[in-house]
Amino acid sequence: MKNKPLMIANWKATKTIKETVEWVKKARPAIEEISQAAVVICPPFTSLPFVSSLFKGTNVKVGAQDVSKFEKGAYTGEVTVEMLDGLVNYCIVGHSERRRLFGETDDDVIKKVGLLLEYKIKPVLCVSDLAQLDSYIERGRVIIEGSEQIIFVYEPPGAISGGGAYRPEDPKEASASIKKMAEKIGKKVFTIYGGSVNPENGLRFLAEENINGALVGQASTDPSTFLSLLNSVRFDNVVD
Ligand code: PGA
Repeated sequence: MKNKPLMIANWKATKTIKETVEWVKKARPAIEEISQAAVVICPPFTSLPFVSSLFKGTNVKVGAQDVSKFEKGAYTGEVTVEMLDGLVNYCIVGHSERRRLFGETDDDVIKKVGLLLEYKIKPVLCVSDLAQLDSYIERGRVIIEGSEQIIFVYEPPGAISGGGAYRPEDPKEASASIKKMAEKIGKKVFTIYGGSVNPENGLRFLAEENINGALVGQASTDPSTFLSLLNSVRFDNVVD
């Protein structure tokens, strides 16, 4: 029996407020009726208050794409965890794009995970490979201690579409890597896969034993594509 899959939409740096309004207009109410999957939408910061208030009290949860490693203070341009408090239930951390393009380090990621846990926001922790997980575990006790609250995403950077062609990892290989990740943590953890998940391949990933959901970039930015991905997720024995 599989748990209800957690489908996290990562819009990345796409969508103005106007485009967000259009997405929401098209996707509602169908998205609020989805019962076979738990849905989280991570819009850019500018659209976050709007999306958050719109879906308040519904099945659809909202997440941020990042958070500052600093708390309140003289940090021009940063969005702190306190600012996210009450707006989001989830927050993506350590995405490979932030590491590669913005120089985010393992220590930064660990600080962010710690802050999010303090505020009871679930970290959606991206892990590119097993070596990166080792480094997180070595540097931060919070990774093991908070593991029950963390959503671990196995997301090999080479599988990310980046808005271009889809190039997913083989579902069986992804599942095997995820199993090893969970073994390293040594506790029962919630693990999902990210990288080129779309309506054509989604079910093949989610049918794998260790894959309890997906972090979805490109296929989440168009409402009808995201809805057809969500509608493709049909297990006979889904439990809450
Ligand atoms: P993709 O992005 O689905 O476009 O590959 C996933 C991600 O980077 O989170």
